[in-house]
Amino acid sequence: MKVKMDQATTHAIDTKQIKQKFPFFASNPDTVYLDNASTTQKPDVVVETISQFYTKYYSNAGRANYKLSSQAAKAIEESRQKTAGFFKADARNIAFTSGATESLNLIALSWGLNNLKNGDQVMVCLQDHKSSVFPWLNLKKLLDGFGIRIEIVPFRIHDVGDYDLKTIKEGLTERTRLIAVSHVHHVFGMDMEIKEIREIVGDDVVVSLDACQSAGHIPVELDSLPVDFMSCSGHKMFAGSGLGVLWARDSRLKELRPAKVGGGSITITEAGATMADLFETGTLNIPAILSMKSAIEFIEEVGIYSIARHLAKLTRYTYEGLRDIPGCEFGPGPGRCDCPGGYGIIPFRLQGIEANDLGFLLDDENILVRTGDHCKGEKTGTSDDDLVRVSLQIYNSEEDVDRLLECLGEAVS
Ligand SMILES: Cc1ncc(COP(=O)(O)O)c(C=O)c1O
Repeated sequence: MKVKMDQATTHAIDTKQIKQKFPFFASNPDTVYLDNASTTQKPDVVVETISQFYTKYYSNAGRANYKLSSQAAKAIEESRQKTAGFFKADARNIAFTSGATESLNLIALSWGLNNLKNGDQVMVCLQDHKSSVFPWLNLKKLLDGFGIRIEIVPFRIHDVGDYDLKTIKEGLTERTRLIAVSHVHHVFGMDMEIKEIREIVGDDVVVSLDACQSAGHIPVELDSLPVDFMSCSGHKMFAGSGLGVLWARDSRLKELRPAKVGGGSITITEAGATMADLFETGTLNIPAILSMKSAIEFIEEVGIYSIARHLAKLTRYTYEGLRDIPGCEFGPGPGRCDCPGGYGIIPFRLQGIEANDLGFLLDDENILVRTGDHCKGEKTGTSDDDLVRVSLQIYNSEEDVDRLLECLGEAVS
């Protein structure tokens, strides 16, 4: 996944102008928000869409035959069309979920539960996000209860933060049915080489892609990405909270069964069933779904290649600045491997200061970063378990990074 900037028109992002479009910064002018991999702030168009729905045409969708309900249902379908177009996919292959966690669990509970047999293997990287790893560990336990034994085969990550492809080759057998991978790692911020992984595993192994940290940051185009499932979070790409997307390729859609049933769902996979038929049941998070359309329009207005370029430049600016802080050690990622750019995520630690303590210290200065276990599937037992993660977005500027660096400089002086 090398983003070919020169093939696209990009423009420098005016962060001051962009920040003005985010009401959060009007209320919190002194806050440097550097926790965007967790969730992003919302542009005014998103806030406006949510507010309009609640104040002007709030109703449940697809539940009644009055016009207001049809209007909400139509707006959901418009948002689905927009989302599908953004990911170069068909709307019938897209379901809205409550977040990437739900999307990733649904793959295990729908595809996994219905397709895995005794002796089958699933490959995961335990350094990936818990939401990508745990659904398979959970499914293994569930199947154990029915006397079906599947095996979870772990593959590893290099010291610089990308997958060790050799361990994928070594772990692969004729019983490997699925491999769960990240597009961009949520702590290490590295491109995880999806095309190379597809070449290694061949066409028959299902590739489930966690695109949480790439969607909205770089182009995620499902007409050319060699994956079977794609999960991502709308709320990490400027849409409302509690929203995710789950996409399945046509050939896999046929292999799915409903994992949740109720109002609005089907109970068996009928011919022609869509992802929405299979997975959207009960009252949906309608305002967040509607806000996805506004979020995508906002991203399109800024330009996805311009976003990618801004994040790459600011990533480099950040780790070059961090390098000058005495005692700064990089975690796996762009700082450690001296990448030319990056995707907006930089993990590091300061010798002698625990990451959580540093997080509190920065919070006192209104600089918000992520510390803690970073929701990785396992600890490594090394200092890489104690990292501060800076994650950037289009409203972050070099001045924001300078404030972080200044504060870190004071912490070590
Ligand atoms: C790589 C990755 N996968 C999954 C998730 C879970 O996403 P959500 O909060 O939308 O459930 C996250 C969130 O941090 C993530 O970074």
